[in-house]
Amino acid sequence: MNTSRLDASHVSVVVTLLSLFASLAIGQDTTWLSAMDLTKMRQGWGTPRSNLSVTQHPLSCNGITFANGVGTHARSFVWVDLGGKGEKFTAAFGVDDGAPGPGSIVAKIWGDGAELYRSPVLSRGRMPVDIDIDIRGVQKLVLSVSDGGDGSNSDHADWCNARFLTRGKRPQTIDPVEDDPGLLTPIPPLAPGLNAPPVFGCRPGHPFLFRIPCTGERPVTFSAEGLPASLACNPSTGVISGRAPGTGTYAITLHALNRHGSQSRRMVIESGSVLALTPPMGWNHWYTHYGRITDSLVRDAADFMISSGMADAGYQYVNIDDCWMNSPKNGDSMRVGPLRDGAGNILPNRHFPDMPALTAYIHDRGLKAGIYTSPGELTCAGFAGAYRHEAQDARRFAGWGFDFLKYDWCSYSRVAGADPGRSALMTPYETMGDLLQQQDRDILYNLCQYGMGNVWEWGERVGAQSWRTAGDLGVELDRFFEVALRNAEHRAWSKPGSWNDPDYIQIGYIGDARNAGLPAPCSMTRNEQYAFMSLWCLMASPLFFSGDMGHLDPFTLNVLCNPEVIAVNQDALGQCAAVIQCTDETFVMVKDMADGSKALGLFNRGEFPADVAAPWTVLGLAGKYAVRDLWRQRNIGPAAGEYRVRVPRHGVALVRLTAEQSNPPTPKKGALQK
Ligand code: GAL
Repeated sequence: MNTSRLDASHVSVVVTLLSLFASLAIGQDTTWLSAMDLTKMRQGWGTPRSNLSVTQHPLSCNGITFANGVGTHARSFVWVDLGGKGEKFTAAFGVDDGAPGPGSIVAKIWGDGAELYRSPVLSRGRMPVDIDIDIRGVQKLVLSVSDGGDGSNSDHADWCNARFLTRGKRPQTIDPVEDDPGLLTPIPPLAPGLNAPPVFGCRPGHPFLFRIPCTGERPVTFSAEGLPASLACNPSTGVISGRAPGTGTYAITLHALNRHGSQSRRMVIESGSVLALTPPMGWNHWYTHYGRITDSLVRDAADFMISSGMADAGYQYVNIDDCWMNSPKNGDSMRVGPLRDGAGNILPNRHFPDMPALTAYIHDRGLKAGIYTSPGELTCAGFAGAYRHEAQDARRFAGWGFDFLKYDWCSYSRVAGADPGRSALMTPYETMGDLLQQQDRDILYNLCQYGMGNVWEWGERVGAQSWRTAGDLGVELDRFFEVALRNAEHRAWSKPGSWNDPDYIQIGYIGDARNAGLPAPCSMTRNEQYAFMSLWCLMASPLFFSGDMGHLDPFTLNVLCNPEVIAVNQDALGQCAAVIQCTDETFVMVKDMADGSKALGLFNRGEFPADVAAPWTVLGLAGKYAVRDLWRQRNIGPAAGEYRVRVPRHGVALVRLTAEQSNPPTPKKGALQK
C-alpha cells in the first residue's frame, strides 16, 4: 500500500473539515462546486463529474486522492452567480492521474470580467496548485480550464475540494452571460438578388441541372444569356437543365427581373473533368433524423429548402445519410429485410419505396439528391454496405438518379485490418472513385473516414471532391473552435474541386440519436452560431446544414442565408483561410478572395468581450482599406495600419477588406478575372 498517498489524502480531509468548522463558527456558508448544478458546465470532451474524474475514477492528482471535487476536461468553463455575497474560493487544481497522456492545462478565474487568478501550465504528475482567492464584491465568477496552448489531448482537469465561502446567499451555476447579437443578416430586398456561385463545374454530355439561387419577391423572370445550345433556362423557375456542353469554358450572364427591379450576374460554366469548383452546399439528414429517416422526410426537406429561401441562398443538395437500406437487425421492423435481391442489387428498406421517384421529386425542384454507403459489409449503423458489390451499387445509385455519394469507412476495418497503411486506406476509395467516374452522370464523391492516413493528401487522387478531416463533430460540438483550427491546418489541400470537410453545420434545431427524435435547439449560443458559420465559410468547407428543416426559425435562417457571408465560402479561388495570430482567447483568420480583397474573421473564444486586432504588417497589407461588415452587410469605413474590433464572447467579427483606389492590390494568381 502506498502510505504517502494515504497520508496526503488524510491531510486533505482534515484540512477540509477544519475549514468547514471555522466557517460555520463565523456565519459563512460553504458551497461545494461538486454539489452545484454541473449541467451548466461546458467542456471539450466528456461530461463533468461530481467527486470523480472525467473518466469516472476517484479524483487524483500526483498520487493524492480527493474525495470531493469536480473532474472536467479542457476547454471547460462554468459561470457562477455570487450576487456580490462571496468571500473566498478555494481549491486544489491539477491534471488527473488517469489522463492517458501528460496533458497541459491552465486554470483561469474571472470576476466580472477581470482576471482574478491564473495557474501555471500544469501537466500530469505535477503537484496540484492550491487556489485561495478573495471574491468579495464579485457578481459573476467564471471558472475556466484552457488547454495550455497545445490542443486539449489528455487535458483531464480536476477542481479538487473546490468550494465557495459566501455570506447570505448561496452561489449558483448559471448559463453564460453574453450580449444577444440579435439577427445580424438584413432581410433581403424585394428586388432580385442573384446568389449564383462565380463558377460551376460539369462533365461533358452528362445531365445538367442548376437552379439559379436568387432572393426577391416572386414571380421572378429568369434568363441566362450565352447558354450553350444544349442547355435551357426555365424563365419562371430559374432552373437551367439539359446536357452539359462539350469541354470548354462558357461565360454566361444570368438575369432576374421582378416588379421591384432587376439584376444580372456573370457565371462561368466549366465543362471538363473537375466538379464542385466551389464547395457543395445542401442538407444532410444525419444530425436530425439519424436512424429514423424516411422518403417523406427527405421530400419535406427538399420542399423546405425551397420554401425557406435556403435554395435562394445557394443550398442545392438534399442528402440521405445512413439507414436507408435494410439491416439484418434493427428495432424498426420496416428497416429489416433482405439486403439485396436475387441478382445482388442493393434494396432500400420499406421507408424508401421508390428511389427513382424520390430523386425525381428532388430534381423537379431544381435540387440534387445525395446517398450514402460504406465500403464495408455493413455501414456504421449496421445497414447493408457495398462490400463486394461496389460496381453494382455505383450503377444503381446512378440509375436511381443520385448526384452525390458519401462513402463511409465504418466496418471496412474488418477487411483492411487493424492498422492499415496508406495504400490499404486508399484502395476502397479508389475503387469507388473510378466507378463513379464511369457513370453517365456527375456524382460528387465525399470521403468519410475521419481523416485517417492524412486523407487530404490523397482525396483528390481517388476522385473525391471532399473528405472529412476528423471524426464526428456531433461529439465534439463544444469544441468547434478547436475542430476548425485543426481543419484549417490542412489548408494547402483546399482548392476548386477539392475541399476539406470538418462535418456538418449543426446550428438551429438538431435531433438526438437516442430520443424519439424530437429536435431541440442546439447547445450553441447565438454568437457561437455566427462564429461557426463564419469559420465554415472562411475555411471553404462544404456547407451542409444538418439541423431540422422542419424547424427553420428566423434566427437559424439568418445564420445560414447571408449571401455576403456565403460568397466568402463560394469564392472562385477556393482558398481556406490561414490562421494568423492565435492566443489562448482570440485568433484571426484571413482568406484571399478572387477579386484581390481579403475576408477576415476575428474570433474570441474567451468568456468576455475582447478587442481583437489584425495589423497590416501581419496581413501583408499597406495603405488604406475599405472595411465591410459581412454579417450586417454594412460598410464601416476605411482602416489603415490595422483593423481592430470588439468581439463578443465566443463570437466573431467577419469583414472584407478591399484596397482603396490609391493602393490597388495585385489580384492573386489563379483568380478569375471579371
Ligand atoms: C459516421 C459518420 C457520420 C454518419 C454516421 C452514420 O461514421 O461520420 O457522419 O454518416 O456514420 O452511421
